[in-house]
Amino acid sequence: MMKKTAAGADLSPNLAKDTLKPSAFLNPVPVVMCSAQHAGVSDIITVAWCGTVNSDPPMISVSIRKSRYSYDLIKNSGKVCVNLVSEALLKACDLCGVRSGRDIDKFAATGLTPVSSPIHGIPMIGESPVNLECSVDRVIELGSHDMFLLNVDGVYVSGAIIDAGGKADLKKAGLVAYCHGEYYALGEILGFFGYSVAGADALARRTRR
Ligand SMILES: Cc1cc2nc3c(=O)[nH]c(=O)nc-3n(C[C@H](O)[C@H](O)[C@H](O)COP(=O)(O)O)c2cc1C
Repeated sequence: MMKKTAAGADLSPNLAKDTLKPSAFLNPVPVVMCSAQHAGVSDIITVAWCGTVNSDPPMISVSIRKSRYSYDLIKNSGKVCVNLVSEALLKACDLCGVRSGRDIDKFAATGLTPVSSPIHGIPMIGESPVNLECSVDRVIELGSHDMFLLNVDGVYVSGAIIDAGGKADLKKAGLVAYCHGEYYALGEILGFFGYSVAGADALARRTRR
């Protein structure tokens, strides 16, 4: 019997799409640089398997293979700084994703400035437009990667992206997205939260440039 939607319409049995091997094919995703320090050793690792997982308390996740040099720094210290990546930082970000802290000092190799984080005293990347200072809430072993669930303890935003009203304007940050192996600049604004049901006043105000 033909399957139906809740409204009673027939569900088409024809999937006119190619079927790919199951993979973590969620795209696009953010790409971030995670900085950490333990027992006097610091490192930066590039991570694309990251996401927002809770609003209150504020929590994000990063998934990291046990084989990464930075894995032990984060696990043993219980602290990490998640640094958002601007276009200006992208080459350094890529380098931190293809070289290991076992072989090079990534702060020295990239010329990025380690700034002590206010709460935990771990290195944050000074040039990053937004730094999220985090503590590890739990670590979940998933298979290839371990997911670090992180509490966001501090958020620091470059003065260059604060607007006249004192609010952070991420349009000014030039943030980068990662999609299927390639880095992208964010494009034009297509809408805003709730714009599909917004009144004419809000539409005019929010789309005015
Ligand atoms: C764009 C990009 C995204 C990456 N995402 C992840 C990730 O989510 N998790 C992970 O464990 N490694 C990821 N990597 C690989 C690590 O960044 C890479 O192995 C790095 O050299 C590890 O550094 P470390 O040994 O100093 O910790 C990514 C690399 C790139 C270039």
